[in-house]
Order: sequence, then structure tokens, then C-alpha cells
Amino acid sequence: MSDFFSDFWSNYVALATLGSILLCALLLWVVARSSAPSGADNTTGHVWDEDLREANNPMPRWWIGLFVITIVFGLAYLVAYPGLGSYKGELAWSTADEYGKDQARAKRELEPVYAAFAAMPAERVAGEPAAMAIGERLFLNNCAQCHGSDARGSKGFPNLADSDWLHGSTPDKIKESITGGRTGVMPPMAAAVGTPEDVKNVANYVLSLSGSPHDSVRAGLGKSKFSACAACHGIGGVGNPAMGAPNLADKVWLHGYGQEAIISIINTGKTNQMPAQQGRLTEAQIHVLASYVWGFSNKAVVSP
Ligand code: HEC
Ligand code: HEC
Repeated sequence: MSDFFSDFWSNYVALATLGSILLCALLLWVVARSSAPSGADNTTGHVWDEDLREANNPMPRWWIGLFVITIVFGLAYLVAYPGLGSYKGELAWSTADEYGKDQARAKRELEPVYAAFAAMPAERVAGEPAAMAIGERLFLNNCAQCHGSDARGSKGFPNLADSDWLHGSTPDKIKESITGGRTGVMPPMAAAVGTPEDVKNVANYVLSLSGSPHDSVRAGLGKSKFSACAACHGIGGVGNPAMGAPNLADKVWLHGYGQEAIISIINTGKTNQMPAQQGRLTEAQIHVLASYVWGFSNKAVVSP
């Protein structure tokens, strides 16, 4: 409650809380004491709808008793627990503490489970149903918003369930991607390629690499300009995992397919980021996740 720079609001809340409890007690006291004038037949004398009359009975004792207990309980609660402005209560209980204890308990219980998996190579963890159940949860909570709940990705977010990898396919490389994150940088290349016509020609050459529909005259003209690209994408555009440069000779397109998409990425470049999970997830969690992700594209190995 230290969000305020003075005690005013804390006191205000405390006073309002105590005030309303006192008012309840006062109301109870006044009502219990006062007695409305009553006729000989113990009614208030009012008659509605011809014969509906209001009897004047005192409030039942058990009801008053309950009301008093409620008030006493309320006051005792406010002494023990935080409820009066910024007063922390005699028990010093807090939701943050409770949460921290819960987390610590969960961690204690899970530690041996994770320890067993951490001692196994990823290829074996991928075959453990218990580990894969944990991996699925971790993936849905931490990764699915970008890579999709089936890990098949979408435009700009790589498919993790196929055998096409930007940064490497081994469990170690996958772990590296998750732990430290990845930044794929494709610089704007139009100036290095030449005129807009040259850019269009290179784009057609790129399309020809994967046997996609293209203009073969333009592709022939663009081939020599591709040397500017080969530094990253490799000769023949087969990609380079060390630079995160995608294979342009397959039919997997991260940023869209076709002449327009390729021209656009040559002109404007692209910076794409996978956020580092180090610090957010423990090493053991990342080990399980890496095994889980690796398992997608190695189903045959995991379950022969
Ligand atoms: C904010 C979005 C985002 C989240 C969350 C995210 N990723 Fe990624 N991830 C990306 C992007 C974007 C890339 C591609 C980076 C690049 O272009 O080099 C990527 C790349 C990867 C790669 C490398 C793929 C390859 O082809 O080499 C792996 C593995 C990966 N992510 C796994 C995960 C896992 C596991 C999680 C959950 C802990 C996760 N990602 C969470 C956006 C995300
Ligand atoms: C400095 C290295 C570098 C150079 C030079 C480079 N690229 Fe790239 N390119 C990349 C990287 C890295 C990516 C992936 C960006 C990402 O992580 O999303 C990429 C992505 C692409 C894509 C998108 C692929 C897909 O799957 O959607 C195309 C197309 C492409 N580059 C074409 C070219 C062409 C054509 C040239 C030459 C004119 C070129 N690149 C030069 C690094 C480079």
C-alpha cells in the first residue's frame, strides 16, 4: 500500500471500514431497543389490501446473536489480517507471501522430476511421456502465442514441426535458440543489387531455385546479381544456419511466397526476433522444451 505518498487514503479507507461496522452495531442496538406502538392484538395498526396486517414482534434472539457474532468476527479479522488501510494485520499475512510459498512448494516437488530429465539426453527425454506432457504445458504457456499451439508457426514465426530450420536442427542448436533467443537480420539489399529491374530479376532467380513458377529470362539475368545474396544464403541459396539465413531453394517461405514478397524483402530487409527465455525459464525447463520441440520433426526416431 505504499503506492500513496501520504497516509490520507489509508486512513480514509480504515475509517470508512470501521465506521460502517460501528454503524451496523448502532443500528442493531437502536432497532433492538425501540418498540413501535402496538395495538391490543400486537399489530402496528396498519392494514393493507383489506386484511393484511403487520405484527410487531421483537427480532428473534438467534438473529441478533448471529449479527453480534458477525460484528465481533469482522473486528477480529481486521486485527489479524490486512483490511484497515495500510495496516498489515497481526499475522502479517500477504497474498505475495502465499504465492511465494506456493511457488516454492511447486518447485520443491518438481525438482526431482526435472532432475531426472536433465540427466537424460534430449533424444531420450523426447520419448518420455511424462516429460512430453510437461513440455506441452510449457509450450502452450510460453511459445504457442508466436509459434501456434501445434508449433506450425505462421508468417514470420517459423514452423517448428517441419524439418526446415533457420538456426540448426540438433537438440543443442534448438536449446541455443530457446535459451539465448535469435535475431535474424536480412539487410535491405536493393542498393547492392542495382535497379528495380535487377531486383525483379533476382527475385525470379530466387523463385527458380525452388522450381517455383518464375520468368526464366529474368531468372537468367538475375543469376549473377545473386552473388550479393550468396554471402548469407549460400551458393545456390541453400541457406546458412550459422547466420540464420533461410534456405531459398526449398518451398518453405517464412515471410510469404511469390515475386512480390521477395521483392519486398530485398527492398526493405527484415529483422525477426525470437525472445531469449533464459531467466524466464529454468535450464531444466528449457531442456524439456528443446526435447519436446525436437520430437516434432523426429517422430520416427522417438517412436519407432
Ligand atoms: C514473441 C514471439 C515468440 C515467442 C514467445 C517464442 N518464439 Fe521462438 N521464434 C520466434 C521468431 C520470430 C523466431 C525466428 C527468429 C529468426 O527469424 O531468426 C523464432 C525461432 C525459434 C526457434 C528457431 C527455429 C529455427 O528454424 O531454427 C526455435 C527452436 C524456437 N523459436 C522455439 C521457441 C520456444 C520453445 C518458445 C517458447 C519457450 C518460443 N520459441 C517462443 C518468435 C517467438
Ligand atoms: C547479411 C545476410 C543476408 C544477405 C546479404 C541477404 N539475406 Fe536474405 N535473409 C537473411 C536472413 C537472416 C533472413 C531471415 C530473416 C528472418 O530471420 O526472418 C533472410 C530472409 C530472406 C528471404 C525470406 C525467406 C523466406 O523463407 O520467407 C528472402 C526471399 C531473402 N532473404 C532473399 C535474399 C536475397 C534475394 C538477397 C540478395 C539480394 C538476400 N536475401 C541477401 C540474410 C541475408
